[in-house]
Amino acid sequence: MCGIVGIIGKENTTDILVQGLEKLEYRGYDSAGIFVTGKNKEDHLVKSLGRIADLQSKITPEVQGTVGIGHTRWATHGKPSERNAHPHTSSNHQFILVHNGVIENFEELKQEFLQNKQLEGETDTEIVVQLIEHFAEDGLVTKEAFKKALTVIKGSYAFALIDKNDPDTIYVAKNKSPLLIGLGDGFNVICSDAMAMLAETNHFVEISDGEMVIVKADKVEIEDEKGNVVYRESYEAQFDLSDIGKGTYPYYMLKEIDDQPTVMRRIIREYTNTLGDAVIDKKIIEKLTASDRIYIVACGTSYNAGWVGKAILEKMTNIPVEVHLSSEFGYNMPLLSEKPFFIFLSQSGETADSRQVLVQITELGLPSLTLTNVAGSTLSREADYTLLLHAGPEIAVASTKAYTAQIAVLAVLAKAAGDNKGNQLSLDFDIAHELSVIAAVMETIIDEKMTISQLVEDYLSTTRNAFYIGRGVDYYVSMEASLKLKEISYIQAEGFAAGELKHGTIALIEEGTPVFGIITDQKTAAHTRGNLKEVESRGAHNVVIALASFAKETDQLIIPDVHPLLTPLVSVIPTQLIAYFATLQRGYDVDKPRNLAKSVTVE
Ligand code: M6R
Repeated sequence: MCGIVGIIGKENTTDILVQGLEKLEYRGYDSAGIFVTGKNKEDHLVKSLGRIADLQSKITPEVQGTVGIGHTRWATHGKPSERNAHPHTSSNHQFILVHNGVIENFEELKQEFLQNKQLEGETDTEIVVQLIEHFAEDGLVTKEAFKKALTVIKGSYAFALIDKNDPDTIYVAKNKSPLLIGLGDGFNVICSDAMAMLAETNHFVEISDGEMVIVKADKVEIEDEKGNVVYRESYEAQFDLSDIGKGTYPYYMLKEIDDQPTVMRRIIREYTNTLGDAVIDKKIIEKLTASDRIYIVACGTSYNAGWVGKAILEKMTNIPVEVHLSSEFGYNMPLLSEKPFFIFLSQSGETADSRQVLVQITELGLPSLTLTNVAGSTLSREADYTLLLHAGPEIAVASTKAYTAQIAVLAVLAKAAGDNKGNQLSLDFDIAHELSVIAAVMETIIDEKMTISQLVEDYLSTTRNAFYIGRGVDYYVSMEASLKLKEISYIQAEGFAAGELKHGTIALIEEGTPVFGIITDQKTAAHTRGNLKEVESRGAHNVVIALASFAKETDQLIIPDVHPLLTPLVSVIPTQLIAYFATLQRGYDVDKPRNLAKSVTVE
């Protein structure tokens, strides 16, 4: 949440900041701002409510400098407004700060240190920049004043600070929120995500919590909490600019839906050998198979993928699996088994709710594995093991290809663990072949865009609400399908266990309520059809998405057969397209739904 960029040592600072912010817009898009300055240059602070395009329209040609910081905001403290937009300046305008995160004790800090300061807005960030000024007024040099502020702040943060009296330096610090340093030739950059600065460099250095970094045009110095200099190797970003473009697509979401067959094939390449066996680090498999219970911890779409993962892992390994919401687990930890194994699912690898659980279970000395799309992300660095999703950058706020990639990688993991345990179902399961069938079937469904668009027009054009129902894995896909529909089209959508409707929720069915039934499982197909009849009798307009083997001629969407363990990988595709077209037809921004941001780095 919130995106930070900064650059020092280049002439076209303003353009670089704005282009970087455009790449980070997925992290928050309610307001934005930049500050640029330089030796013997004027200072320029430009802020705007709304998106980066709104900010850009306010930037005049004289806004130039050789050092600058920028920010795109997802509001936490203080409503979206120009006043609350970052960068924030201290009262005497010496210090300029951008921040991603939440300062939990900002009220206390205000009371203790800032009674005499006139505050402009309602943000927690403004307290920090005033605090730095306060300590500087006590006689500390900027670096020490910043350090002192960090010692009294509680919460999560990534900060970039400029002292306009010394525009040769950007001061940087982080705790729990992501921030990277990018290395250039005669210049250096900072960014919340490497994507933002790929046009400038593809060499990045990670910063650890508690460190402070002094960034100058020709050098980067990292200090630990005690002031010791830390040497850290840089790494090369694994993607390039073409990976983060939309190409000819109108929206990232559509591109990312279409990417899914390619992602499946990439996962086959990355995680299987020529014999078709799953190839996963032996240490992971040993730890996992030695456990007596697997705990999957995740949020949102990743949580929904976790339920499908549970179904596959339990069948292939015979180890019980629990699936938990990170935001609940952290504060209401269930009784754990004797030998638990934790799997964190996170596209971004930065989700604060999940991270706080990882911190807790690491303190307990329990083993952890992160499945993430982002190499070097916080959850990846802090877990014992990582498996990458290899889905390529996912930029649309609505997650699509990360969901299917998570399920596919979990299936590979289940296969490797199941084989290790000699599970017959697992030994008979040719994962490489089955995933290649999945890729081909995904393509067939993706080719049905016109049919799906028409269905949306027929069933969802005016409705206020809608339901997805199914049983077993079809219920798990219903949860994901409804999340997708509601988060971008704003149709109030719920995913229900089909058999549970009659225990209360069926009261919501009225004449014309759209109900989507997902039917891919032989055991439950007839029962779900029965539940669909029940809602139809009460006026619902049913749409059936069924696997060919269990389909009827009258079903609206029929999906070619795939391996029974992997049906969610294909039944979810039409639901992603349904959400996409419903949003498009209602005239909303598909990639940037209201109130949301892609990477949720606050609890
Ligand atoms: O990066 P993560 O997978 O940890 O993110 C978790 C959720 O915030 C995310 O899946 C969210 O629910 C998606 N926007 C849904 O499309």
